[in-house]
Amino acid sequence: MQRTLTIIKPDCVRLNLTGAIISCIEKRFHITGMKMLKLSKEEAKRFYIVHNNKTFYNSLTDFMSSGPVVAMVLEGDNIIEEFRRFMGATDPKNAEEGTIRKKFGTNIEENAIHGSDSEEAASFEVNYFFSDLELVR
Ligand code: RTP
Ligand code: MG
Repeated sequence: MQRTLTIIKPDCVRLNLTGAIISCIEKRFHITGMKMLKLSKEEAKRFYIVHNNKTFYNSLTDFMSSGPVVAMVLEGDNIIEEFRRFMGATDPKNAEEGTIRKKFGTNIEENAIHGSDSEEAASFEVNYFFSDLELVR
């Protein structure tokens, strides 16, 4: 069994699409943790620290701290890879039909949703948002 961390990004929370996205997710995946919170700029920078040398780091962390987000933990076999496929490509215009980013994303930055990209990232990211007590067993 594998875990992944997903975030409904501020663009979709602002557009009142939280329920629609959770509905898509829960039809396919098992949710074991969920919370709404607003990241500070510093918290967004620490979360996306792997991107600290990218040109988009400042803009990305401004965006991610611009409003509330909904963070969730999902569990299942091969969930990291399966959920990445379910999200679609980073840029919604390149995302496959039926994916979350195709349906709900606006542009390469405001792309609706985050998903961990490796077991190492998932472990860091789940612990960033959730304590053991906050996850369903
Ligand atoms: P994520 O980490 O959010 O699941 O997205 P990802 O793996 O598909 O993409 P990644 O390369 O990790 O980029 C993280 C987030 O940064 C924003 N981004 N902006 N302006 C740009 O060229 C650019 N590239 C990426 C997006 O919000 C992307 O999801
Ligand atoms: Mg990524």
